[in-house]
Amino acid sequence: MATDLHRAVSPASTDTAAAVRVEGLTRSFDGRAVIDDLELTLQPGEFTALLGRSGCGKSTLLRVLAGLDREIEGTVLVPKRRAVAFQAPRLMPWKRVWRNVLLGLPGDPGREVAEAALEEVGLGHRSTAWPKTLSGGEAQRASLARALVREPDLLLLDEPFGALDALTRIKAQRLVAELWQRRGCAVLLVTHDVDEALLLADRALVMRDGVIAYDTRVDLERPRTVGSDGFTALRSRLLTELGVEEAGADVSRAA
Ligand SMILES: Nc1ncnc2c1ncn2[C@@H]1O[C@H](COP(=O)(O)OP(=O)(O)OP(=O)(O)O)[C@@H](O)[C@H]1O
Ligand SMILES: [Mg+2]
Repeated sequence: MATDLHRAVSPASTDTAAAVRVEGLTRSFDGRAVIDDLELTLQPGEFTALLGRSGCGKSTLLRVLAGLDREIEGTVLVPKRRAVAFQAPRLMPWKRVWRNVLLGLPGDPGREVAEAALEEVGLGHRSTAWPKTLSGGEAQRASLARALVREPDLLLLDEPFGALDALTRIKAQRLVAELWQRRGCAVLLVTHDVDEALLLADRALVMRDGVIAYDTRVDLERPRTVGSDGFTALRSRLLTELGVEEAGADVSRAA
């Protein structure tokens, strides 16, 4: 039977500095371990990108860290205040945008709380709109606002830009970078896009065979540009770790 050892990071924990500590995490589906004795530590305020082939267990790991899946073995220490945004914005169509932002929030926060977060993502003017009238990028920003009102110490993002067109995607990436710098929370971003990982993150992880198989710092100066010297070297290495052969054409979107 799976053991639920999911608990908040406490000052009594051995590594008080960590935002996330995962030890010996295993998650199986139908007897198959998708996550298999995984170890991971994330530092407070660190922006980490999580890469890996489709089906390798990235979303499963994020769901565990978010506390949405407790059928686990091992130890998972996460901050109490955490928020998650998925690829699909998951807005309730029968609630106006500002009410969606407050959905599930404890206490009885006022509308102004939602509106401040919407303002922060540049969506203040759509506060009273119905979700179905939002563009894809707007809906994604509403989803980010919903994460931000939780004032998370850990922000979990599961391919949040996956469904956006190229231009909207660049804007959304910049927004997340700004929010991260302003808020100072730890971010774990799942992405298939190596360039996106290198533009945004302090650290890049590659998940393979149920564990973090590769872990590298991204010590590139900000703002970053695709194609700078350090960038290209890291990109090649990550693509190799992902099992993608680099060709002349753009192959940055692995898996
Ligand atoms: N609830 C579930 N029941 C059974 N199998 C599951 C369940 N959730 C995930 N899996 C399986 O676990 C594996 C990992 O799934 P996961 O969604 O974590 O992959 P992923 O790395 O996020 O992939 P992608 O990049 O395509 O989003 C897959 O083989 C998937 O079929
Ligand atoms: Mg996934």
